[in-house]
Amino acid sequence: MFLCFKIQTRPVMGAFSYARLWVMNTFPEGFYWGAATASYQVEGGIENCDWAEAAREGRVPPCGSACDHYNRYKADFDIAKELGHTAHRFSIEWARIEPEEGQFDMEAIAHYRKVIQALKERGMEPIMTLWHFTLPLWFSKTGGFERKDSPEIFARYAAFCAKELGAEISYLTTMNEPIVFAGIGWLKGNWPPFKQFALVGLNELTISGDRSMQRPLKSWFAYFTYRKVVNNLATAHNYAYKEIKKIQPSLDVSLVKHVVAFDSNSNPLNRFRAWVEDKFLNHSFLRKVHKQCDSFGLNFYHYVKFGDRPQFEYSDMGWEMAPGGIYNALQVLWKYKKPIFVSEAGLADHDDSHRAWYITEQVKGVERALREGIDVRGHLYWSLMDNYEWALGFEKQFGLIQINYETQERTIRPSAYVYKEIIERNGSVE
Ligand code: BGC
Repeated sequence: MFLCFKIQTRPVMGAFSYARLWVMNTFPEGFYWGAATASYQVEGGIENCDWAEAAREGRVPPCGSACDHYNRYKADFDIAKELGHTAHRFSIEWARIEPEEGQFDMEAIAHYRKVIQALKERGMEPIMTLWHFTLPLWFSKTGGFERKDSPEIFARYAAFCAKELGAEISYLTTMNEPIVFAGIGWLKGNWPPFKQFALVGLNELTISGDRSMQRPLKSWFAYFTYRKVVNNLATAHNYAYKEIKKIQPSLDVSLVKHVVAFDSNSNPLNRFRAWVEDKFLNHSFLRKVHKQCDSFGLNFYHYVKFGDRPQFEYSDMGWEMAPGGIYNALQVLWKYKKPIFVSEAGLADHDDSHRAWYITEQVKGVERALREGIDVRGHLYWSLMDNYEWALGFEKQFGLIQINYETQERTIRPSAYVYKEIIERNGSVE
C-alpha cells in the first residue's frame, strides 16, 4: 500500500475539520461505486399502486411515464457504465410482480431478469431492493402494513422474488426506509395513506367542547396505528429474511435505513437530546431487525447538531448541506458491526452548482469511516437520474443525469464526471 503522510486541516465544513494522517488507497479493492434509483420514481407506467391511486385522487402529483426507464434501462445503464459505475441499486415494483393478491406475473419477472442481465453485461453489480415505498392497490386498499397478516404477505412476496431472481444476484435489500414510510404516511400525513398525528393537549380537550373530541381521538389513533405499522414492518423484514435465506442461503440480505446523524457540543443537555433522538429515530427500529441483516444500507441526507450549530447552506429541498455528516451516520450503523453500503446519499441541486463538492465531501466522510475500521462496502449516489420526488413531483433534481421529461432526452451533468474521476481513483479525492 502506498502511504503518503500529510497533516491536513480542513477549512471547509467547520464541524468536520480535523488534523489527520492521510493514507491513500483507503478504499478497498472491489469497493462498489455507482448510483441508485427506485422503480416508481423512474420507470413510468405503473398504475396499480397506492401512489398512482393517490395521484388520480389529486392528492399527489401524477407520475405518468416518469423517466421511461422501464423501456430505456439499457441506454441508462450505458451512461452509468460510461461514468465508471461498478454497481447500481434499483428496486423492483411489487405492484407489477403481484398485481393481485397471491397472483404473480411472470412477464414482470422476465423484465427484471433482463434488467439484472443488462447490469451484469455492463460490469455493474446489481443491488436489488424488493420494496421501495409503493404498495400494490389490492394490499393498500385492504389496510397495507396495518394488516395483521402484512408480515406474512410481504414474506410471501419476498420468497417468490428470491426463488425467481435470487440466483442471479448477490445483494438483496428487503425494504427501503421503513421509518420514513411510516412517519410520513401515518404521522405527517403527506404520503398515502395520509393519516396525521398532531399533539393535541388537554387544553384543547377541555375548552373546545364535546364535538372536537373527535380530532384528538383521531390523531392519537393515527399515532397508535403508526406504532403498529412500524412493528409490522420490522416483523415483515424478519420473516422475509428467513424465507429468502431458506431459498438462497448465500444471498447477502439487508435492510436500507435512513439514518439522521445527531451530534452535539459538550453541553450535557445537548448530548442528552442527541442521544434521545438517535435512540428514537435510528436505533429503536434497528434493534428489532439487526439480527436478521447480513449487511445494512445507509441512506444519508441529514446531519443535526445540538449546540454550536455550524452554518450550512441549503439544498433545493431546503435541507442543510452537510455531506461530511455521513461519517457520523456510518458510526450509528456500525454499532451493529455489519458491513454497510451507502445505498443513497445525494443532493437536489437544479443548476449542479454544489453537487460535485457535495459528492467529494461525502466520499471524504466515507473514507474517514473506513480509516477508523468501519466496514463500508460501497457508495451509491442518489440518484442516477432526475426523477419523481414523491409528493413534490418532478421539480427537485437529484440526478447525475438531467432528464427532459418532454423529450426524454438525457444530459450528463458536469458533477457526474467529477464523480467518475473519484471512481477512477478508487475514492481518492485529492
Ligand atoms: C428515498 C428516495 C427519495 C430520496 C430523496 C430517500 O429517502 O429513498 O426515494 O427520492 O430520499 O428525498
